[in-house]
Amino acid sequence: MDEIRDPVQAVTAPDPYPYYAALRERHGLYHEPRLDAWVATAAAVVDAALQHPGLRVRPPGQPVPPALQGTPAGAVYARLVRMSEGPAHAGTRRAVTQTLDPMASGQVAGRARDHAAQALAMTAPGDRERLRALYRVPLLTMAEGIGVPIGQRERVALLTERFVACLSPLSGAPALSEAQDAVHALHGLFDEGLSSWAPAPPSGGPERETWIANLIGLLSQTCDATAGLIGNTLVALGREPALVSRLRQGIVQVAEVVDEVARHDPPIQNTRRYAAEPLTLAGHALEAGQCVLLLLASANRDPAPCGTVAIDPAPDVFAPGRPPCRSFGYGAGHHRCPGDRLASAIAGGVVQALLAAQASLLDGLAQRLLASGAYRASVNARIPCFP
Ligand code: HEM
Repeated sequence: MDEIRDPVQAVTAPDPYPYYAALRERHGLYHEPRLDAWVATAAAVVDAALQHPGLRVRPPGQPVPPALQGTPAGAVYARLVRMSEGPAHAGTRRAVTQTLDPMASGQVAGRARDHAAQALAMTAPGDRERLRALYRVPLLTMAEGIGVPIGQRERVALLTERFVACLSPLSGAPALSEAQDAVHALHGLFDEGLSSWAPAPPSGGPERETWIANLIGLLSQTCDATAGLIGNTLVALGREPALVSRLRQGIVQVAEVVDEVARHDPPIQNTRRYAAEPLTLAGHALEAGQCVLLLLASANRDPAPCGTVAIDPAPDVFAPGRPPCRSFGYGAGHHRCPGDRLASAIAGGVVQALLAAQASLLDGLAQRLLASGAYRASVNARIPCFP
């Protein structure tokens, strides 16, 4: 790829980290006219923004992106815990957490491993197909976790992928229209499922429509981020082939590698916040409605002190098993990802399946993915692919 021109383009660049470092050296927070947004590059500023009560997940007066307004996808979007604030957020988040927490990570890892082994056994032996099948494992595992009957899981995975496609500002009219049908179908499935297999909202939890939206949301939140975690782990193994032998010998644990990838090369590179009112951030005056792009991936590589959490002295080094240190890979504050342990377990299960398969499979896939240097088009998710 040519020179990186802005932090959104950096998300899908082969190596965005020197660019992030250069941004950090110049400014912790700056205004980027190309994006019409403020950009937070330093860990301390990202942290402050994630905790700031005046910075919200949606622009003021715009609960749903204009392209989704008045559509089935828009109705689901507006009810997602990720897109809400205040008491509505707190109540739904409690219910979501109570649903995710009982899914023991060990069991989920085992299910992901089985799904991945099945995918590897069934797919045509092409890298592209193999990767696509592995990237679907998170959805199949989460669908199973929330009770979707076996015969419906592949369909649910496909429908979720269509819904997720329309959430990107890069998606065109065909993706938007496909997504409406997909959301309609998913809604119908969960609406019916609530009288049999689907988890009921915990008592005192959100009303039915909000709950259905958030069951769909659990799938959509799983989809790209966990695919990216799997892909970026493969790229890391391609970069450090010796690590594969250390994994095979049990010198390094799969979970240590996956968790280090979530810090060192996170699948969600940035997130956005919007000023609900005029406010000051890192000494800069922000007007109501202005956007701040928070570079989570840059913050993870910032060696400068931030808060009370341990600072990593060498954040650019990829060191599985390093002592716990600050990471924004799963966000922070009241919107911090509640699926972190499950995501790590699912990605770990997929790596376990690859380790158990024919030796050349993991090494080959990792090497070729690294060499491809390509990433799916996205403004925030870093998901390696074959062009
Ligand atoms: C099992 C897979 C996953 C599930 C079910 C899940 C679920 C969620 C949910 C429901 C939220 C919104 C929380 C709230 O608003 O209170 C969230 C936020 C978030 N998730 Fe996940 N997630 C998953 C995987 C991942 C992965 C693999 C990553 C990246 C390593 C990730 C990164 C994030 C981030 C950065 C946020 C915060 C967004 C923000 O505050 O702007 N998630 N996740």
